[in-house]
Amino acid sequence: MEITPQAGGKFGVTVEGFDALTSPDADVEAVKQVVYAQKIAVLKDQKLTPQDFVALGRRFGEPEVYYQPMYHHPEAKEIFVSSNVPEDGERVGVPQTGKFWHSDYSFMPRPFSLTFIYPQVVPKKKRGTYFIDMGRAYRKLPERLKAAVAGTRARHSASRYFKIRPTDVFRPIGEVLAEIQKESPDVFHPTVVAHPVTGEEILYISEALAHELLDKTGAPLDDTVLPELFEVTGQRDLTFTHENVHLQTFEEGDLLIWDNRSLIHRALHTDKPEPAVSFRVTVMDSYRW
Ligand SMILES: [Fe+2]
Repeated sequence: MEITPQAGGKFGVTVEGFDALTSPDADVEAVKQVVYAQKIAVLKDQKLTPQDFVALGRRFGEPEVYYQPMYHHPEAKEIFVSSNVPEDGERVGVPQTGKFWHSDYSFMPRPFSLTFIYPQVVPKKKRGTYFIDMGRAYRKLPERLKAAVAGTRARHSASRYFKIRPTDVFRPIGEVLAEIQKESPDVFHPTVVAHPVTGEEILYISEALAHELLDKTGAPLDDTVLPELFEVTGQRDLTFTHENVHLQTFEEGDLLIWDNRSLIHRALHTDKPEPAVSFRVTVMDSYRW
């Protein structure tokens, strides 16, 4: 197995010679540690069945089944399917997922530790995922903003980007919103969290899922702080040229693993999307915040 820094001055590493099923546990541990330290690992030349992909996830921790069944792979419920390609005329998974800045499952009490993406149908022209390293973004904040968020908590909610399901058609929106609140009640995470492995401080907010900041007493902060944080960290830059934004591209056979605690990400979908299918496995490791 060979681990090399990604070319082009971007963070993350490339891993060659890793076999999801037969590589020794020491290699799995080495990849895991490099993901914590370098944030993204691209495993090259992977050829995995859905079951193999889940087995790979299991070598890194406990795969978590997504709470909404409409995303599940028909043969492996641990796989979340993002797809705009019907199979036998039937929709599989959900199209156009994740086109907003977020950290997977931050609207849940225990967000995923690691995210694995295994593209199946790779778009020819525009492909990739945007990332922002929120550890680095926190270090770069002006002291004034660091002081403003110290000791605060952020309210995370799925409501703004919840995808209307086929079964929701003709339902009153208020009823759907009440159901979202019941299934996934808002959660509160510290605005700045320490990574349990690296100790790095991370600004744990994303534009899609963080809705407000609360001070130690539970009172809302001045409502200009959160938008300013989104602005200075690069989440409001729709040209994606902000220096914090990293575009991670991939080719067929690549499998991406990233640290879902310290990175936020945003899918790159074009207005006239090309066929694209991606499988995702998300894993809980043994660490808590
Ligand atoms: Fe995501």
